[in-house]
Amino acid sequence: MFIGLDLGTSGVRALLVDGKGRAVHSAEAALSVSHPHPGWSEQDPADWIAAARTALRRLAADRPDDMARLRGIGLSGHMHGATLLDRHGDVLRPCMLWNDTRSSEQARRLDALAGLRELSGNIVFPGFTAPKVAWVAEHEPEIFARVAKVLLPKDYLTYWLTGQMVSDMSDSAGTSWLDVGARAWSPELLAATGMRPDQMPALHEGSDVIGRLASGVARDLGLPGTVQVVAGGGDNAASACGVGALAEGDGFISLGTSGVLLAARDGFAPRAESAVHTFCHAIPGAWYQMGVILAATDSLNWLSRISGASPADLTGELGQAITTPGRVRFLPYLSGERTPHNDSDVRGAFIGLDIASGRIDLTRAVVEGVSFALRDSLAALRLTGADLSRVLAIGGGARSRYWVELLATVLNMPVDLTQKGEFGAALGAARLAICGVTGAAPADVMTKPAIAETILPRAELCAAYERAYAAYAASYPTLKAMP
Ligand code: XUL
Repeated sequence: MFIGLDLGTSGVRALLVDGKGRAVHSAEAALSVSHPHPGWSEQDPADWIAAARTALRRLAADRPDDMARLRGIGLSGHMHGATLLDRHGDVLRPCMLWNDTRSSEQARRLDALAGLRELSGNIVFPGFTAPKVAWVAEHEPEIFARVAKVLLPKDYLTYWLTGQMVSDMSDSAGTSWLDVGARAWSPELLAATGMRPDQMPALHEGSDVIGRLASGVARDLGLPGTVQVVAGGGDNAASACGVGALAEGDGFISLGTSGVLLAARDGFAPRAESAVHTFCHAIPGAWYQMGVILAATDSLNWLSRISGASPADLTGELGQAITTPGRVRFLPYLSGERTPHNDSDVRGAFIGLDIASGRIDLTRAVVEGVSFALRDSLAALRLTGADLSRVLAIGGGARSRYWVELLATVLNMPVDLTQKGEFGAALGAARLAICGVTGAAPADVMTKPAIAETILPRAELCAAYERAYAAYAASYPTLKAMP
């Protein structure tokens, strides 16, 4: 048996699978995010351990026999967070998360340094790790002076589980400290934020076994001390392992808190100026590229909070099939935007409200706006040479048939839906553990899921959505110009 342990922004998920990667059972524990100031987004790493412990103990209580046969654990997690540890391994401050934009000034300065984009393959986005640490250096110098190690969020859980301070290539690629083409820490990139290589964890490929469960933790969780832990992956790379997106032509759309359009790549083909992310894959010798939008289901969750209706009720009101585009436009920049604008200051908008506009018009505008934002990401991805002709849809938003048909029409490509089941980051993390512990090849373990349904673009509506997209895209400069 194997476990994939996924540290998500809103909770930890522990997925138990058998040796063939078939899901057996799962357990979850919720997490919250604190926003002490506009643009700030933090979690206390102690809460990650508490949630992981709860989820793992639940699995142990529900499936004692299976858990006694546990051989390996793989981890995945939300990327980019800066978990700062002192020389005793104690956490120095709350972790600043991937959607924390307070360090936009530091990011701008780092991004302007000659050669930086070439080495890291990416724009330095404010959400990335290096500018966060630069912010700490400027605003909390006494904390910066005590930083002995910087761990990414899932790697802090690995440290708790094994006592090892390590990371994997896919997650480390999102720090702005990794030479992403060479898959190695870059002394030059580290020096740009006053960091040294010894403050970085040891680097591994995602399926490398990095150690065994520490004996105290094994005892506490009631697990065999022989359990091996692999390095794992950042959540998007792990999701790619979960859906078998390993090679050119494979890709997916994830409609989660953030929205992602991802294409697996055989080589390192950065194009930073498109605001596409170019990261190492969690499997050796592969990379991936993706457009990231910061508020996908988060936009719907926002509408849910202010309207008092659940996200499922809101999308339920839209029905199953799309019609012509609504007249209200929504720009989903509630937390600023990464792809394609790299603009942490811009904020969202409704445009075209009418005295007769009702809740359903706002919901339609929100799902259309998020879909148009992903269309922006598709255009950016194509500039890199990534050749996607169909994608798989995963994540909470993919439960809305309406939304998936809308995406197929806006992107003008077939969108596949999987059968019910596990295909996310937790499965990908468990698959990395299977590869690491058994020595199996990734291509044999990370197979593609069975497709339940393929949603085709509504050809007769494509032109109307193309016009609506053009109106959407033309609105950004106005928003950008607003004080
Ligand atoms: C990727 C990114 C998000 C987080 C959240 O660059 O910031 O997808 O990993 O899960």
